[in-house]
Amino acid sequence: MKPNETVFGVIGAGTMGRGIVQWAAQSGMTVRLYDTGPGAVEAALKAIHAMWDRMVSKDRMTAAECEAAKSRLTVLDGLDGFAGCDIVVEAIVERVDAKQGLFSALEPIVDPNCLLATNTSSLSVTAIAAGLERPERVVGLHFFNPVPLMRLVEVVNATRTKEGIAESLSALVSATGHHPVICRDSPGFIVNHAGRAYYTEGLRLLHEGIAEVPDIDRILTETAGFPMGPFTLMDLTGLDVSGLVMQTIYDQYFHDPRLRPTPLVPLRIAAGLHGRKTGEGFYRYDDGKRVETPEAPPKSGTAHPVWIDPRDAGGDKIADVLTDCGVTLESGDRPSATATIIVAPMGTDTTTTALDRGHDPGRTIAIDTLLAQAFEQGGRLTLMTSPATDRGRAEALHNALHEAGRRATVIRDSAGFVVQRVLAAVVNLGSDIAQQRVGHPQDIDNAVKLGLGYPAGPLSLGDQIGPAKIVTILDAMERFYGDGRYRVSPWLRRRAALGLSLLTDD
Ligand code: NAI
Repeated sequence: MKPNETVFGVIGAGTMGRGIVQWAAQSGMTVRLYDTGPGAVEAALKAIHAMWDRMVSKDRMTAAECEAAKSRLTVLDGLDGFAGCDIVVEAIVERVDAKQGLFSALEPIVDPNCLLATNTSSLSVTAIAAGLERPERVVGLHFFNPVPLMRLVEVVNATRTKEGIAESLSALVSATGHHPVICRDSPGFIVNHAGRAYYTEGLRLLHEGIAEVPDIDRILTETAGFPMGPFTLMDLTGLDVSGLVMQTIYDQYFHDPRLRPTPLVPLRIAAGLHGRKTGEGFYRYDDGKRVETPEAPPKSGTAHPVWIDPRDAGGDKIADVLTDCGVTLESGDRPSATATIIVAPMGTDTTTTALDRGHDPGRTIAIDTLLAQAFEQGGRLTLMTSPATDRGRAEALHNALHEAGRRATVIRDSAGFVVQRVLAAVVNLGSDIAQQRVGHPQDIDNAVKLGLGYPAGPLSLGDQIGPAKIVTILDAMERFYGDGRYRVSPWLRRRAALGLSLLTDD
């Protein structure tokens, strides 16, 4: 399939339909658009034309290209006009019965070889195809909003999709400059499935009372390089929307604990705290602008001398930062009777680490050394106390960092701090999507990076940190919580044991 030889039908002229039409016509396809809503196609046509005119005025399109794109787009007043299309994509209401009914009505109109594609994001493509005369021609074509800018397209093979269809659609998408990934029909496909780890682990941290919303968001953006914290993201999407996706995917995977949301979600939805659009979510908004609450500075105080447990990796980084901040370091095999004891566990909390090593929990503070970025200027350090840790001691250490211009957050005790557990959950879920053969490992990685804007795909992220380290973190978390949520995916455990990249297929 080549764009300039393709007659492309679009049904549904809402947010997604408009974007798909714009992309297809701009790419050289002949496009036909239909919608049952009164005045919907006319409104869409006007909006798309205005978009192209704006692109011309910004020199992103020539006047000739604009006219050509306009001439390639026609609107229909009924389904009959789809006769002769090579492919018809539906972007109508997200209901199986509506989508099935639409495809059934199209079947006698379109050519037997015409592909029927659905842009569904949460329904089963296989279920939509069921009951049709020719279910083998139904395929998922999952675009992301806004379509012209979000280059990723998931091409979804339903259980009965004929071999070769996804490949030829992929070639069509590639020819337009977008980035197709072929995947198997499964709840959430690749991107919406993989995205659950970040949201649900962020929520879990809040649910456990480990840190406040802005703290979790700040740690994840400033240290781990995510473009937005999970709570900022949920506020932007709307918790009513993302909460529903969370629940649907959890239900469709028969309550796999890795995908489990927290009871905070339905409560906040019921309270109308949907995010930016309702004026309040995890943050408050004034006229659509987020009301920022400045970070409270730590209480002043003089830091005790510090002894860094030599058993932990990364002690040298901690020593460098603390020395820069004017904190006195103790040398020797054991801490003095008054020293603050610094540990740097992987997947273990401060309490367990202190007790296992015979340290005084009242004087023990853990620092997350997983990512070097935390120790760089502009990064953020995470300090973690046990319930027994002397508050004043933690505040004084935080203050020494603060006074020296270092960003730091003190959190309550957590097996895996914030970054370790969120990154481990992201890598583990990405690995399990590879294990389930939902897509090729490299495609899974690319799809998540492009679709979610993560600093790297989950498998590359695991490789960067080291698969064995991720396994250590997850095993420790599973021991502590006794929760199958943290069970290691076989994909990850085997590759870690063999010293292989997580991108290794077999
Ligand atoms: P929307 O509500 O903006 O637009 C839906 C359009 O479909 C409306 O104009 C409506 O009049 C029309 N429609 C409804 N039933 C129809 C029918 N039987 N025949 C013809 N037209 C009909 O919805 P949106 O956001 O564009 O979503 C459409 C589809 O794309 C859904 O399946 C959704 O899950 C999926 N999707 C949405 C994304 C998003 O970010 N909004 C992202 C990816 C997929």
